[in-house]
Amino acid sequence: MTRKVIIDCDPGIDDSLAIMMALSSPEIEVIGITVVAGNSPVEMGFENAKKILKFMNRLDVPIYKGESKPLKKDFVNALDTHGEDGLGESFLPKVEGYEQEMSATEFLEQILMKESVDMIAIGPLTNLATLIQRNEQAFNNISRLVSMGGTYKSHGNCSPVAEYNYWEDPEAASIVYKQMSKINKTIEMIGLDVTRKIVLTPTLLEYIKRLDSKTGEFIQKITKFYFDFHWEWEHIIGCVINDPLAIAYYLNPEICTGFTSFVQVETESISRGQTLVDAYSFYRKEANAKVLTQVNMKEFFYMFLERILKKERNELDLLEELL
Ligand code: BDR
Ligand code: CA
Repeated sequence: MTRKVIIDCDPGIDDSLAIMMALSSPEIEVIGITVVAGNSPVEMGFENAKKILKFMNRLDVPIYKGESKPLKKDFVNALDTHGEDGLGESFLPKVEGYEQEMSATEFLEQILMKESVDMIAIGPLTNLATLIQRNEQAFNNISRLVSMGGTYKSHGNCSPVAEYNYWEDPEAASIVYKQMSKINKTIEMIGLDVTRKIVLTPTLLEYIKRLDSKTGEFIQKITKFYFDFHWEWEHIIGCVINDPLAIAYYLNPEICTGFTSFVQVETESISRGQTLVDAYSFYRKEANAKVLTQVNMKEFFYMFLERILKKERNELDLLEELL
């Protein structure tokens, strides 16, 4: 049976790869994409989501525009990382003739008051916090919530302690984590401890291109800028593709391991956006998160390539050597 999923995102280069992976996964039906201000302003993220759907030939999937700024902090985009068009300066043509009346939170409220759906959030959590403020019950009806964000032992990527999605809107992340405590559920936190292991290297990209030039060239077009950014700032040859790991983990939770814990998101000053993981239970609070700390990187790339290239595992005979 296929599972219904909503992807909340801020495309974004790695968000786009995540959407491509999700749309190529037969186990799930993406019933909507909600966009939030993050990597790119929300209007740009909306346009970029359309460009990805067009490439995937899936403009049937509805996209809803969400919040245009964080709850309290000023909006700071990440176009320095994702390029001036938010898609690695690929400057893909605008997709015309596709508008939505409903906002992201209206859509989420409408769906979730009818049925329980899973959500994979790969951007700042502003849309979800807004949903809690608007209709708590709707949020509570999310059956499984996977969030790319935060970090446990790994250093931050936009401050020494904070990962971008939670740094961008720490109040929103804090509200979501508190709500999980309130309803006694756990959010599945795919943070930098695991995503930093997922590096798309030039060799892997070349392999993708050899197997499917259309998909490979598209990925190359949107990741070139990201490669350059990673070389300059992280001294990595390749790029960390955080968001597709949230999709892979959603599809196969065995790909990551970790532990359940109480987690609080800090909102102020130098600890803004930090995920305070009470791994040793000092606070004696019930777990509200599953914190993933280890990942089977090879399995991720098998899953990623199988899906985006529509190949069987035995057709990826060179992959093992490249990982
Ligand atoms: C997260 O921030 C964004 O730049 C990426 O799209 C990802 O969701 C990584 O910190
Ligand atoms: Ca993202």
